[in-house]
Amino acid sequence: MKPPLPPLFFLLFLLFTTVTSAATTVNATKPATPKTPTLSPTPPPTYSPTSPTTKGPTSSPLDPKQIEALQSLDIPTTRDPCVQPSPHNATVCDNSKTVRHLISLHLSNCSSDLSLSFNALKSLSSLRSLSFTNCHASPIRFPSDLSLSLTSFSCIQSLRRLSGVWLSRFVNLTDLTVSGTPVSARGVYVILGNMHKLKTLTISHANLTGFLPRHLHLNLTHVDLSDNKLKGKIPTSLTLLEDLEFLNLSSNGLNGEIPTEFGDLISLRNLSLASNSLSGSIPDSMSTIPGLVHVDLSNNHLNGTVPKFLSELKGLKVLNLENNGLHGVLPFNASFIKRLAVFKVGGNDNLCYNHSVLPSKLKLGVARCDKHGLPMSPPPSKESSADSESDSSDYSDDAADDTTNKEKHHRPSKVVIGFAIGISSIVFLIIFLILLAKWCR
Ligand SMILES: *[C@@H]1O[C@H](CO)[C@@H](O)[C@H](O)[C@H]1NC(C)=O
Ligand SMILES: *[C@@H]1O[C@H](CO)[C@@H](O)[C@H](O)[C@H]1NC(C)=O
Ligand SMILES: *[C@@H]1O[C@H](CO)[C@@H](O)[C@H](O)[C@H]1NC(C)=O
Ligand SMILES: *[C@@H]1O[C@H](CO)[C@@H](O)[C@H](O)[C@H]1NC(C)=O
Ligand SMILES: *[C@@H]1O[C@H](CO)[C@@H](O)[C@H](O)[C@H]1NC(C)=O
Ligand SMILES: *[C@@H]1O[C@H](CO)[C@@H](O)[C@H](O)[C@H]1NC(C)=O
Ligand SMILES: *[C@@H]1O[C@H](CO)[C@@H](O)[C@H](O)[C@H]1NC(C)=O
Ligand SMILES: *[C@@H]1O[C@H](CO)[C@@H](O)[C@H](O)[C@H]1NC(C)=O
Ligand SMILES: *[C@@H]1O[C@H](CO)[C@@H](O)[C@H](O)[C@H]1NC(C)=O
Ligand SMILES: *[C@@H]1O[C@H](CO)[C@@H](O)[C@H](O)[C@H]1NC(C)=O
Ligand SMILES: *[C@@H]1O[C@H](CO)[C@@H](O)[C@H](O)[C@H]1NC(C)=O
Repeated sequence: MKPPLPPLFFLLFLLFTTVTSAATTVNATKPATPKTPTLSPTPPPTYSPTSPTTKGPTSSPLDPKQIEALQSLDIPTTRDPCVQPSPHNATVCDNSKTVRHLISLHLSNCSSDLSLSFNALKSLSSLRSLSFTNCHASPIRFPSDLSLSLTSFSCIQSLRRLSGVWLSRFVNLTDLTVSGTPVSARGVYVILGNMHKLKTLTISHANLTGFLPRHLHLNLTHVDLSDNKLKGKIPTSLTLLEDLEFLNLSSNGLNGEIPTEFGDLISLRNLSLASNSLSGSIPDSMSTIPGLVHVDLSNNHLNGTVPKFLSELKGLKVLNLENNGLHGVLPFNASFIKRLAVFKVGGNDNLCYNHSVLPSKLKLGVARCDKHGLPMSPPPSKESSADSESDSSDYSDDAADDTTNKEKHHRPSKVVIGFAIGISSIVFLIIFLILLAKWCR
C-alpha cells in the first residue's frame, strides 16, 4: 500500500522549514561580510575604478608623488584618497586649491611583505599625523622633514621594535602613542628629552626599562606608561603637572612612597598606580584633587589606614585598594559604597568594617571589626556558608549575587540553542518518517 501523498508533502515541507530556520539561526557564527570596503593595505581592489575626471568638482588633485608613495605602501589609489570620508579616515588631505597634500595617514592590517621606503616617506613629508596599527613592517630611518613635520605618531602592535633614539627625533609631537611594540631605551627621558610640545603620552605594553624621567613637559594632560619594566620611585617633580588628567603607571616595578605632594595634580581624573611595589600610606594631599573619577592603587604594599576623604570625592566611580597592607576600620557608609561602580578593598588582612555602619551583605571581602576596631575573623569571602552569625538577609543577597554572576558567565548563545533545536527536529522527523513508512507498508 502506498503512503498517502499529502501527509508526505506536509512532512517534507516541515523538514525544509526546519533546516532553513536552523541555517538562519547559525548565521551569526559566520564572519560578517564587511559592509564598507576598508582601506587596508591588503586590498582586494574593491573600489570601482573611477577616473580622476569624475571627482567632485571642488577637489583638486593629490600631488602625483604622494599618489606614487601611497601605491608603494599598498594603498589603493583608484579612488581619490582625498575624498572624505575615507574608510577609517585612513587618508586625510589638506584643502589646497591647486595641488593637495596628505596631512594624515593611517596604515593598518598591512600585508606581511610591506616595506617602508625612504623615498616614499620623503614625499610624504607633508604629513602631520602618521599611525600604524597591526603593521609589522621594519622601521627605517625617517627623512628629517617628515620627523619634524609630525605632530602625532601612533604605533600599535606595529613596526616590530623601536628604539628610543628613533622616537626622540619626532620633536614636534603633541601626541605619542606606542603600544604592544617593544621599545628599547635607556630611560624614558631619552625618548622625551626634546619633545617640548607633548600633551599626550602613551608607551604601554612595550617592555620599556629604566626610571621615570625627573622632568616631564608641564603641558602633559595624559601619561600612560603602564605595563612596562620601569623601576625606581615616582619623582616628586611629577606632581608639577598641573594639567595632568590621566596617569597610568600600573604594572611596572615602581617602589618607594607616593609623593606627599601628590595632591598638587589638581586636574587629575583617572589614576592607576596598580601592580607596583609602592609602600607607605595613601597621601592626605589627595583630598584636594576635586575631580578624581577612577582611583586604582591595588596590588602594592601600601600601609596605614584608608583615608575618609575618599568618600567626599563627589565624582568618584571606581575605587580599588585591594591587595595592600591597609589596616583599621573602613571609614565609609553604605550609601557611598553603593554609589560606586567598582569598590574593592579585599586582600588587606588588617582591614575591617563596622557592623553597625555597614551591613555584612555588602560582601566587602574584609572581616568585621571587634569593639577595638580590629578584625574579628578571617575575611568572610574565604569562609564557607557555615557562618552561624549571618542572618537570612545575607543569604538572600548571596543568592542574588550568584544569579548576577551566572548571567555574566556561560549562557549558551542563541546560535547554539537554535542549532540544537534544528538538529533535534530533523532527527525527530527522520524517525517519524521511518515509522510512518513502516506503518504504511
Ligand atoms: C542573522 O542575520 C540577520 C541579518 O543579517 C540578522 O538580522 C539576525 O539577527 C541574524 N540572526 C542571529 C541569530 O544572529
Ligand atoms: C583590521 O583588522 C581588524 C581585525 O582583523 C578589524 O577589526 C579592523 O577593522 C581592520 N582595520 C581596517 C582599517 O581594515
Ligand atoms: C574622520 O574624520 C572626521 C573629521 O575629522 C571625524 O568627524 C570622524 O569622526 C572621523 N571618523 C573616524 C572613523 O575616525
Ligand atoms: C619642528 O621643530 C623644528 C625644530 O625643533 C622647527 O624648526 C620646525 O619649524 C618645526 N616644524 C613644524 C612643522 O612645526
Ligand atoms: C616583553 O617581554 C616578554 C618576555 O620578556 C615577552 O613575552 C613579551 O612579548 C614582550 N612584550 C613585547 C610587547 O614585546
Ligand atoms: C602650554 O600650553 C599653553 C596653552 O595650551 C601654552 O600657552 C604654553 O605656551 C604651553 N607651555 C609650554 C611650555 O609649551
Ligand atoms: C592602566 O593600564 C592598564 C594596563 O595597560 C589597564 O588595564 C588599566 O585599565 C589602565 N587603568 C586606567 C585607570 O586607565
Ligand atoms: C608603612 O610603610 C613604611 C614604608 O615601608 C614604614 O616606614 C612604616 O613604618 C609603615 N607603617 C606602618 C604603620 O606599618
Ligand atoms: C576614567 O575612568 C572612568 C571611570 O572608570 C572611565 O569611564 C573613563 O573612560 C576613564 N577615562 C579614560 C580616559 O580612560
Ligand atoms: C555617607 O557618607 C557620606 C560621605 O562621608 C556623607 O556625605 C553621607 O551623608 C553619609 N550618608 C549617610 C546615610 O550616613
Ligand atoms: C561602630 O559604629 C558605631 C556607631 O557609629 C560606633 O559607636 C562605634 O564606636 C563603631 N565601632 C568601631 C570599632 O569603630
